[in-house]
Amino acid sequence: MRGMDAPIFNTIIEPFRIHSVEPLRMTTPEQRKTAIATAGYNLFKVNAQDVLIDLLTDSGTGAMSRDQWAAIQHGDESYAGSPSFFIFRDAVRELFPFDHVLPTHQGRAAEKIIFSVLGGAGKVIPNNTHFDTTRANVEASGATAVDLVIAEGRDPQAVHPFKGNMDIEALESLLRERADDVPVVFITITNNSGGGQPVSLANLHAVRDVCDKYGKMLFLDACRFAENAWFIHEREAGHGDRDVADIVREIASLADGMTMSAKKDPMGNIGGWLAMNDDDLARDCRNVLILTEGFPTYGGLAGRDLEALAQGLKEVVSHDYLRYRIRSTGYLGDALVKAGVPVLTPIGGHAVYLDARALLPHIPPLEYPGEALAVALYEAGGVRSVEIGTVMFGRQPDGSEVPAALDLVRLAIPRRTYTQSHIDYVIEVCQHVARHAADLRGYRIVDEPPALRHFTATFEPLG
Ligand code: F0G
Repeated sequence: MRGMDAPIFNTIIEPFRIHSVEPLRMTTPEQRKTAIATAGYNLFKVNAQDVLIDLLTDSGTGAMSRDQWAAIQHGDESYAGSPSFFIFRDAVRELFPFDHVLPTHQGRAAEKIIFSVLGGAGKVIPNNTHFDTTRANVEASGATAVDLVIAEGRDPQAVHPFKGNMDIEALESLLRERADDVPVVFITITNNSGGGQPVSLANLHAVRDVCDKYGKMLFLDACRFAENAWFIHEREAGHGDRDVADIVREIASLADGMTMSAKKDPMGNIGGWLAMNDDDLARDCRNVLILTEGFPTYGGLAGRDLEALAQGLKEVVSHDYLRYRIRSTGYLGDALVKAGVPVLTPIGGHAVYLDARALLPHIPPLEYPGEALAVALYEAGGVRSVEIGTVMFGRQPDGSEVPAALDLVRLAIPRRTYTQSHIDYVIEVCQHVARHAADLRGYRIVDEPPALRHFTATFEPLG
């Protein structure tokens, strides 16, 4: 190589090779039409065996590494004081140095605990955008959940590097009017329900300043913290030379606590935690934890799960991993943009969001264009996605129904699970469905539960 320039290659490869494989089951369009009809046109009710490429969620579905599986063998299942807990706690604190770390079986368990302590009738909990379980847990406590994302964050086509940012003026005006009713301010990184969009460090500092002015706690819903930190590294001036772990620690230093689903960036199949600095709040939360999850050194988890998460937390802040991760999501999104399929831009971290309302203007929001698109992707190619729109968010606490802000279909990418050829296939399926968009019809809901209806509702095609 002497005399040759250092070569520059543009292909960003998977920074791993495959160590064990899981077979996929092929199905025909006819088999899939039967499967989805049997499931009442609800993709949550389709058996995973009948799905070819499962982009329903990036939650708990990623591939664990060799070293995570090895860590599982170290799991100590002592009821109290297991060494696995201290390994887990220290790995969390390496990035999020909060005084109290309470393991939970997943993110929503942490939400349930914090809002049962801080929520209640008459309270208001602001967030950039509440995730569905977060909103549901706020509302189940009797409190009101409000979304205060910046205006660009509600416009699928607006170009902004940090579309997950909180609208600082809106937050300030809420606190000016109702400070006594707001027990805590939340911010979700990345902003999942708003398209997996990141929040800038500058915005987090500004939110902190407003919280300080009104003496309020700031909590992170930090499921995709490493992806958010990578966007800061890539897009925010002055942070390009920093270690991502260091950016994460700065984010943590701005908050008083966090809820976490460890099924996302910590690369676990299961897990979560609740962390905070306030001793009295921690005592109250621990009491609920013991009631609902388990003893404080295991929460809702086995010792082996705690070990796998500790190892996952070390792996997720690798720059090689994050560069590959964000680029591979972008690869899918860029190909769809190029093919003229309407998607939410810029492309987020963990998922590509198809704009069903734009693709299917002939289907009104109350006939669920996102549902129509998600079913079509499944029938055509066996690709499972999830509607994030009027089905998920349209039902109001008073029983009325209104169109959601957006009607999106999310293609979530499990971590380290699918290869580029799987994604090339997904691109083809999306293009095929987009070409036949005019033929798609809306749906009506046949029956639905009172809350979180998207998980169990059944549908019927219209016309
Ligand atoms: N907060 C956010 C931002 C989430 O994305 C999720 C889960 C949760 C909280 C709840 O965590 O599932 O461990 O109880 N999101 C998954 C998804 C389910 O598909 O986006 P959990």
